[in-house]
Formats: sequence, C-alpha cells, structure tokens
Amino acid sequence: MIEDELARIRVLPVVVIDDPGRCVPLAHALAEGGVPCAEITLRTPDALDAVAAVADLEGFLVGAGTVVGSSQLDRAVDAGARFAVSPGFDRELSLAASGRGIALIPGVATASEVLAAGAAGHSTVKLFPAAQLGGAGMISALRGPFPDVRFVPSGGISLDNAAEYDLDAVLTVSTSWIAPRAEIAAGRFDEITARARAFRAAVGR
Ligand code: 3PG
Repeated sequence: MIEDELARIRVLPVVVIDDPGRCVPLAHALAEGGVPCAEITLRTPDALDAVAAVADLEGFLVGAGTVVGSSQLDRAVDAGARFAVSPGFDRELSLAASGRGIALIPGVATASEVLAAGAAGHSTVKLFPAAQLGGAGMISALRGPFPDVRFVPSGGISLDNAAEYDLDAVLTVSTSWIAPRAEIAAGRFDEITARARAFRAAVGR
C-alpha cells in the first residue's frame, strides 16, 4: 500500500514547481537526503509535466497535491501520480479517486470532517493547516475518538517544530520547508538535500 511506503519515508515534501525540467534533479536531491518522495502541488501551470517527469523514476514516489476536483484527479493519474492529496474532504473527489484506483489523502480540520472522510473509507487524512489548528496537541486530541486514523499533518511545519510530530498517530509529516519554490527555481539542490536530511532526522524513527 502507498500509505505503508509513505509511512516508511516518514516525511512528505510539498513542492511548488515552475519548471518541470527541475523535477528530476529535485527528486535525486530529495532521495539523496533520505526522502525519496514528493507531493507536487497542482498550483503551477506545468505541475502535471513535473509529475510525469519523475513518475517512472526508480525508487521515487510521486503524488499530486492541491487536487480540488475530479478532472484534476484524472489528469494527475494520467500523468503517473501514485497518490493524491486534497486540502479538504469532498465526497465526489473521493468517489473519483476510488474509480481511478488511486489513493487519496483528503484534508480535514475538524472531528466532523474526520467522520465524513471515514464514512467514505479514508483512514488516512491530511490535517490542514496543522500548526494553526494546534499542531501535535490537536492530533493527540483527535486520537482519542479516532484511534485508528492516521494523520498527515501539513501547514506551518518546519525544522523548528518537526520533532513534535513524532507521534504514533502520524503517518508522515508534510512540509514545503524542505524544498522551497525559490530554492528549486535557483537549482540549489545541495541545500534541498541538506534540508531533507535534517528534517528526516528531526521527525525521528
Ligand atoms: C500546503 O498544501 O501548502 C501544505 O500544507 C504545506 O504547507 P507549508 O507550506 O506550511 O509547509
């Protein structure tokens, strides 16, 4: 299962990329830092080309992020995304993901949304925006009523607060801190490798 692969890596870099030509060196830089995966957000015009560029890269797991509609999901699957992440929960999107056979990690911010996502079959959810919602404290609180749910905290997480998310309820920690848009655009891949390594060490296990 994709969730098992994500859990093993333990860190999910969120990427905003302008030039798909940067995606292969970016993937190598992340893998070199011990983080062989990325969520490419569909926020830039050529994001799907970036997904496609690394879809067949051996040992690298690529997903599409900021997926907010079924047609985007279709295009992400066609580009080779192995998983999809959405900032919120939407039943239609969830059904579309099941139809295409791709793992979708929907976003939640409340207990009601965890319930709605669970009713649609999602036991792994993105907690967004994690830091603003209370961070690790929020996850521990939700863990009580939802002991079987695994969370992917995302939003406001950097090296400074990464360690607080070393929790059993956390599947993997999502952050754009590792590969900032400007560092990718400038081709500073050594810096990205160093960030990946430091962040991976901070989240433990
Ligand atoms: C996002 O989708 O933007 C993620 O939640 C990343 O948030 P961050 O930029 O605060 O790490």
